[in-house]
Amino acid sequence: PDEDLAAYFAEVVDAEQKIEPRDWMPDAYRRTLIRQIAQHAHSEIIGMQPEGNWISRAPSLKRKAILLAKVQDEAGHGLYLYAAAETLGISRDELVQLLLDGRQKYSSIFNYPTVSWADVGAIGWLVDGAAIVNQVPLCRCSYGPYARAMIRVCKEESFHQRQGYEILHTLAHGTPEQHAMAQDAVDRWWYPSLAMFGPPDGNSTHSAQSMAWKIKRFSNDDLRQRFVDMCVQQAEILGVRIPDAELRWNDERQAYDYTQPDYDELMRVISGDGPCNRERMAHRRAAHADGQWVREAAAAYAAKRAGQKET
Ligand code: ACO
Repeated sequence: PDEDLAAYFAEVVDAEQKIEPRDWMPDAYRRTLIRQIAQHAHSEIIGMQPEGNWISRAPSLKRKAILLAKVQDEAGHGLYLYAAAETLGISRDELVQLLLDGRQKYSSIFNYPTVSWADVGAIGWLVDGAAIVNQVPLCRCSYGPYARAMIRVCKEESFHQRQGYEILHTLAHGTPEQHAMAQDAVDRWWYPSLAMFGPPDGNSTHSAQSMAWKIKRFSNDDLRQRFVDMCVQQAEILGVRIPDAELRWNDERQAYDYTQPDYDELMRVISGDGPCNRERMAHRRAAHADGQWVREAAAAYAAKRAGQKET
């Protein structure tokens, strides 16, 4: 009976064990996971665009090879995550269609432009840094396939963060013009990176339930604080300034006080009205349409092979 199944589900979650695809789970748990994992997968795919912009203009062959590898990793993360979502009973085709129809979201951060090479450094340091802070706890998520996917994703994200940090370090220790480029990029990416963690806890629709289910392990504000605390020392070593006049150590809280990002701006970007939302979606739709013949050819080939096996 259903009560036994629900009790077993609660027991597994409480005991820090994993829920697996064939286990019974509440419908709302399944829906929340599909929403979050799909949003995460879409973010990886859309996230290829801002940096893809710089592959052909990277300042050296080595930088180009590294950036190319990084952007390919993101495609891999997207496919990995779509596969994790598929274990919940929805197909990748359906998820992609929901993105293209504007019915599922992707991270706000990828709606900001990459106007200089230093932006590639700032994205690695701040955006991938924020992604790691957010995703390491997801390795302990109660849903097995998502938790396991996150282990590899986080390892690769660490490499991405280091490459960004190294780009910024090189620029910040270069000519005055290069230092100014690095600082300008940090000035533009700091607050959007803080906003990536989502609305403040009081306005976070899903946090309480997702934490009770052990999908999320920390609240949006707790992770945001952790990120700020981590960045301060790294900024000093980099030789760049975090653009926040209110940033200071609070001995009582044993954490830095800081200025919150503009959450109205976050809501505008999430609802489709950020600097690059239209461009990102138009590009994704065009890429999807351009790939139609590949999907058809792959399907025809698979059908032919299946036919051959039967005879
Ligand atoms: N960008 C876009 N949408 C967001 C963002 C954001 N930065 N933050 C919150 N939202 C949306 C939520 O999806 C939710 O909308 P919905 O109800 O229509 O789905 C709404 O705002 C309210 O937010 P929360 O209730 O706090 O949502 P949630 O509990 O899902 O927490 C969070 C948001 C922290 C992003 C969570 O979904 C998460 O940890 N996701 C996995 C990580 C991820 O997606 N990272 C993508 C970027 S990192 C990268 O790819 C490099």
